Amino acid sequence: MDISALDYQAICDFLLENSGIELGKNKQYLVQSRLSPVLKKFDLTSFPELVQGLNSLKPMTQQLKVAVVDAMTTNETFWFRDSVQFDVLLDYVLPELLARKEGSVKIWSAACSTGQEPYSISMCAERVIQKLGKSKNVQIIGTDISEAVLVRARQAVYSELAVSRGLDHYYKAHYFSPVADGYRLNSRITNRVKFQPFNLLKPFSVLGRFDVIFCRNVLIYFPNPIKVDILRRMADALEPGGAIFLSSTEAMPQTLTQFESVRMGGARFYRKK
Ligand SMILES: C[S@@+](CC[C@H](N)C(=O)[O-])C[C@H]1O[C@@H](n2cnc3c(N)ncnc32)[C@H](O)[C@@H]1O
Repeated sequence: MDISALDYQAICDFLLENSGIELGKNKQYLVQSRLSPVLKKFDLTSFPELVQGLNSLKPMTQQLKVAVVDAMTTNETFWFRDSVQFDVLLDYVLPELLARKEGSVKIWSAACSTGQEPYSISMCAERVIQKLGKSKNVQIIGTDISEAVLVRARQAVYSELAVSRGLDHYYKAHYFSPVADGYRLNSRITNRVKFQPFNLLKPFSVLGRFDVIFCRNVLIYFPNPIKVDILRRMADALEPGGAIFLSSTEAMPQTLTQFESVRMGGARFYRKK
């Protein structure tokens, strides 16, 4: 189904305002392919009807708005993505934190998609705790704007294909059990991870404070002022000395002087001064 320039612009405006995602020009094909199933699901016959729903204040249109945001997010993820960052987490950041902190260590995976990122963090935590031989409390929260991906993250069951992406033999053998439809992560790994729907445009105070934040492969979808604002607020949500990991292709804007860049073993993270 074709989409007019006016309807395309209305959908772009809705997405930017509600999720921070900036589609830019000439992504009509993407909108058409991702929103056609939404039209079908909500029995809508055209894009003007969909746009009318998005602009409506009626409570019954809430589900439509959630479905549109869900459909327009890109949820690509895999285990130990940017693996050198997990090497640094395993060999340096977590051992240092667990040695230094008396209470719980708190880690936030800020756009966690289907869970591979927070569970990879939890597998690293498990190894460090085992090595220390002491019981230590590491709490990991995975948040995402898309409720659909969080349902899958909570299930912690991954297909053969999903498990093959980035997971080395050690982790598969130690922390996964085969089930009918793939592999289930063991509760030793899932227990320390909680999932919560959360839009990065909203205030972070409800989430508490963190020792480490992973904010990877999400800021690329936002215009620069939104990206800078999110990172500035993340600085406030970090404990002094806390670390933030961005994806390897992203850099901290220079205006954010709250952070110093730390390079280690081929990876880079940012420490709150
Ligand atoms: C490409 S995935 C990145 C997953 C993981 N961090 C990684 O690097 O593999 C981007 C995720 O950001 C989420 N997202 C997009 N806009 C968001 C927002 N405003 N608030 C929270 N999450 C958002 C999407 O739903 C999607 O699951």
